[in-house]
Amino acid sequence: MTLVAYQPLLTGSYTRPDRPFERRYAHPTAYVRYEALRGAARDLGVTPNQVVLAWLLHHNVIPLFGASSLEQLEEALAAVELQLDADLVDQLDNA
Ligand SMILES: NC(=O)c1ccc[n+]([C@@H]2O[C@H](COP(=O)([O-])OP(=O)(O)OC[C@H]3O[C@@H](n4cnc5c(N)ncnc54)[C@H](OP(=O)(O)O)[C@@H]3O)[C@@H](O)[C@H]2O)c1
Repeated sequence: MTLVAYQPLLTGSYTRPDRPFERRYAHPTAYVRYEALRGAARDLGVTPNQVVLAWLLHHNVIPLFGASSLEQLEEALAAVELQLDADLVDQLDNA
C-alpha cells in the first residue's frame, strides 16, 4: 500500500511566522516534535521543510506538497537528495 501525505508543509507553518500552526496541531507533544525538527534542520544546514519531506521519503511516504514559486519548488525538490542517517531518523521518529 502506498501512503500519500497531503499538505506535508502545513501550508508553510514550519518556517513562516505569518503562517501560524492551526489550532488542531497545538497539542502537548507538538512542541517537542517541532524542536526536534528545527534542531535537525539546523544541524544539517537545511530547512525544516526539507527535513519534513526527506523524513517522509525515507519512510516511503509520498509527500504531496504545494509550491507557488520556483524558489519553493526548488527548496522542496532538493529534499529528494537529502539523506537522513539512521540516528537522526530515530531521533525524529521518537520525538
Ligand atoms: N484531498 C484532501 O483531503 C486534501 C487535503 C489537503 C490537501 N490536499 C491536496 O494536497 C496538495 C498539497 O496541499 P497544500 O498545497 O495545501 O500543501 P502544503 O505543501 O502543506 O502547502 C503548500 C503551501 O505552503 C507554502 N510553501 C510551500 N513551500 C514553501 C517553502 N519552501 N517555504 C515557505 N512556504 C512554503 C506555499 O504557500 P503560499 O502559496 O502562500 O506561498 C504553498 O502554497 C494539494 O494538491 C491539495 O489539493 C488534499
